Amino acid sequence: MARKVTKAIFPVAGLGTRFLPATKSIPKEIMTLVDRPLIQYAIDEARAAGIKEFIFVTSRGKGALEDYFDHAPELESSLRKKGKDQLLEVLKSTNMESGAIAYIRQHKALGLGHAVWCARRLIAPNEPFAVILPDDVIAAEKPCLQQMTEAYDEIGGSMVAAMEVPPERASSYGVLDIREDMGSIVSVKGMVEKPKSNEAPSNLAVIGRYILSPKVLQNLNKIKSGAGGELQLTDAIALEIAEGRDVYGYRFRGQRFDCGSKAGFLQATVAFGLARPDLQTEFADYLRQMVSLQKAAQ
Ligand code: UTP
Repeated sequence: MARKVTKAIFPVAGLGTRFLPATKSIPKEIMTLVDRPLIQYAIDEARAAGIKEFIFVTSRGKGALEDYFDHAPELESSLRKKGKDQLLEVLKSTNMESGAIAYIRQHKALGLGHAVWCARRLIAPNEPFAVILPDDVIAAEKPCLQQMTEAYDEIGGSMVAAMEVPPERASSYGVLDIREDMGSIVSVKGMVEKPKSNEAPSNLAVIGRYILSPKVLQNLNKIKSGAGGELQLTDAIALEIAEGRDVYGYRFRGQRFDCGSKAGFLQATVAFGLARPDLQTEFADYLRQMVSLQKAAQ
């Protein structure tokens, strides 16, 4: 049986240029879906999957992210005095246990692969680890990483979350070359980062959840920068296959929102807003009004 995955790396050192000017001073991962920052969704998903240690790869200007996980004693005591127990619980759920969280700096945004490599000293040589990209938010009955750790416990190897995309969108993703399709799990014989539109080996794209063998960290030492001049995590995982180790794609059950893009973020806001019992009725009424106004204007 594969060793349990208890550590996760959260690469949050990107520049977030698609959200400028907001990201000039606010880390993208602190932006809120309804009332919780993106990073909180990622942490909750990791916890549900049994992750106990959280490694953030950060960069300049991400101070708000580090503060977010600190305790807030003044706020807590003020809520306690006012008897606002529910809010106190909400606040407490954001606290992290001392020593459970580590921050590593990526000094230059040299790519996702490089960001993961920056955390290499915090992963033991025989220790599998998860990688979560907080800007991919996944709405699912069973959290996506939990679905993956359950599959990984059975099958081992390295595993990436995979999603069917329309052929014309494949060039925006890492794409899997499938050896054998077993349903939820596919065995992979190759991976290409951002293939040209007519060169995608399938329409199964990698999205931001990974369970990786520690060997991938060594592979990152061996590869050169790839697509976009960045050190690509996809290339280091592809090297696993080239060296004869197993890599699987996992077709998760759930809906993924690309919250790194404006359209994806807005879609997620609507979906998560409508899923909240306290907002549902009012928000749905408002959306219906907006749609009929738009139709009338056409
Ligand atoms: P993106 O490709 O979304 O890049 O990174 P970005 O810089 O965050 O955003 P844009 O494209 O400029 O708008 C995917 C994930 O990889 C992390 C990002 O923080 C994000 O979680 N990343 C990317 C790093 O940590 N370091 C890098 O050098 C690049």
